[in-house]
Amino acid sequence: MSKLKIAVQKSGRLHDDSMKILKDVGISIDNGKDQLKASARNFPLEVFYLRNGDIPQYLRDGVVDVAIIGENVLVEKGKDISIVEKLGFSTCKVSVAVPKSTKYSTIQDLEGKRIATSYPNTVNGFLQSNNVNAELHIINGSVEIAPNIGLADAIVDIVSSGSTLFKNNLKEVEVLLKSEAVLAVSPSISEDEQQVLEKLQFRIKSVLKGRQ
Ligand code: PRP
Ligand code: MG
Repeated sequence: MSKLKIAVQKSGRLHDDSMKILKDVGISIDNGKDQLKASARNFPLEVFYLRNGDIPQYLRDGVVDVAIIGENVLVEKGKDISIVEKLGFSTCKVSVAVPKSTKYSTIQDLEGKRIATSYPNTVNGFLQSNNVNAELHIINGSVEIAPNIGLADAIVDIVSSGSTLFKNNLKEVEVLLKSEAVLAVSPSISEDEQQVLEKLQFRIKSVLKGRQ
């Protein structure tokens, strides 16, 4: 039977829960995350440990057949990629936050402001649909520091527990989207692999049902 190639986040907020759901559906994987690729012992599956932001392109190119990925990453970089299953874990929001001392009442208050983010496409879409012009500063991590160092007036980033906002004296003022981990599929998945995917999905569905 041909193997289904699945991408999983190498490290970061989705990694542990992604490995856990594979374990919960009865798939045992041979190694730790030091290797970039691993095979399942009892299911036709090969696991690729990849960087979050690279996964949409790998799906598009058919390098992997499916992926466990945050919806927010697909909104940013993979609008063309289909979701076949919502997985219910790693829930978060992508939100606008401003310093606690900033007076904020409507989206129009962002007009002409500097916004730091790692999600430029998502932010641009949001600004355009609200007819607001702002200046984006794209940074890859630790976005919440930007207002404190005078680099930006506002940020757009992931909010999960809210602790990073709190620690940096920021308040959430707009929610752009709500996200959770999903199973996403390559547009060029083959017939054979599609059949394996259906087996995997069947198992995932019953595990998710049990978790409710
Ligand atoms: C993520 C995200 C937020 C934070 C949200 O950052 O970018 O900063 O987690 O989580 P919280 O609401 O529970 O605090 P991460 O720690 O992954 O680091 P990075 O931004 O440097 O990538
Ligand atoms: Mg962060």
